[in-house]
Amino acid sequence: MPIKLTTEKLDYFGRGIAYLDKKIIFIENALPGEEVLIEITKEKKSFAEGKVIDYLTTSPERVIPKCPYYEECGGCNLSHFKEQLHFKKTEFVSLIKSNCHLDVNPIVIESPKNYYYRNKVTLKIENYKWGYYENQSHQFVSINQCLIAKESINKIIKRQDLFKIATGEIVIRSNYNDEILISINTESKYEVDIEELKKDNRLLGIIINDKIYYGQDSFIEFIDNYLFKVSINSFFQVNIDILKEIFKILSKTNTTNMIDLYCGVGVLGTVINKEKLYGIENSYSSIKDALLNAKMNKQENNYYLLGDSSKISEIKDNIDLIIVDPPRSGINKKTMEHILNLNVGSIIYMSCNPHTLSRDLKKLKDKYCIKECYLFDMFPQTYHFETICILTKK
Ligand SMILES: C[S@@+](CC[C@H](N)C(=O)[O-])C[C@H]1O[C@@H](n2cnc3c(N)ncnc32)[C@H](O)[C@@H]1O
Repeated sequence: MPIKLTTEKLDYFGRGIAYLDKKIIFIENALPGEEVLIEITKEKKSFAEGKVIDYLTTSPERVIPKCPYYEECGGCNLSHFKEQLHFKKTEFVSLIKSNCHLDVNPIVIESPKNYYYRNKVTLKIENYKWGYYENQSHQFVSINQCLIAKESINKIIKRQDLFKIATGEIVIRSNYNDEILISINTESKYEVDIEELKKDNRLLGIIINDKIYYGQDSFIEFIDNYLFKVSINSFFQVNIDILKEIFKILSKTNTTNMIDLYCGVGVLGTVINKEKLYGIENSYSSIKDALLNAKMNKQENNYYLLGDSSKISEIKDNIDLIIVDPPRSGINKKTMEHILNLNVGSIIYMSCNPHTLSRDLKKLKDKYCIKECYLFDMFPQTYHFETICILTKK
């Protein structure tokens, strides 16, 4: 039987929160103040999840999502909400306050593009169709466009008929020049009509099951006069306009000897003014790219180490600054111990996961204070965001 509830607030993932006899109910696509009729889709002892059947009142903050797949696709869960960025800031500030008792007031940097910004998408292939999985499920949603991906990527998605592949996964990447790299993993037979695909796209390469099927397996990114080789398996930030904003902040930093921890293809360390840099990264393809990128960008004193971030203990030089940009899991325990032992003057912590950031800040806060803090809307329409905290020794 439908239940009438009023949404009180949003959780971190943008889901509405309402209460039924003191039990917390999470409701997808319900905004604060909205009176909704829901049906319960999941019932647990301490919480339940519900789906809106009807809106009895709607919030003035509600907008109609532009994406035709919004209801099914689990990707852009804030598309129905006008005040996305204000929400992200409030969530960030309160998370840092409650988890590590620190007050932050981040400078918020908007994304110049709210749609068509992503330079990489990963799609499932099922029954010759491409798509995403529904939120928290393996229910396949076939798509013919993705409004947060660059137009050049959408042009490829629209030609999925040229890929005769029954099942698997496809990654499509696009660079500054709208050149395209595609990587496919499949256990099915495969055939791609390359000649037809090339007619209307700047196709540079297709890699299938880690082997080059056509062209090449890397391309060049060109950002603010820097050149970066990016191999198909190397990490690169997905929103280039936001990366340019990050460059503006990092390029103001002057230091002597620094470490770029989790350096990827060497992007962040390259734009900092320094005399010497040590980069550490556990992906072979990224480190290979980083070595070449140092040459291309005339970085004469950059040294790169392949391995786990805990290799930081092998650096015996005097270090003034560490920039860390870990994966979503944050900094591992061993690495954190080494960072604290190094006792450097400044740490720049870039993070896409405020939960692990706050866990790590808790360990750093006795020695360091937050001098500057930024929140970048790297991933509009989703609840994700990127932050930079510049820490200095107390
Ligand atoms: C968020 S990305 C940042 C990359 C780079 N700083 C950039 O901006 O392009 C995190 C990087 O850490 C690497 N990585 C993940 N776990 C690691 C570990 N335990 N040790 C070293 N590097 C790791 C990944 O391969 C990835 O390149």
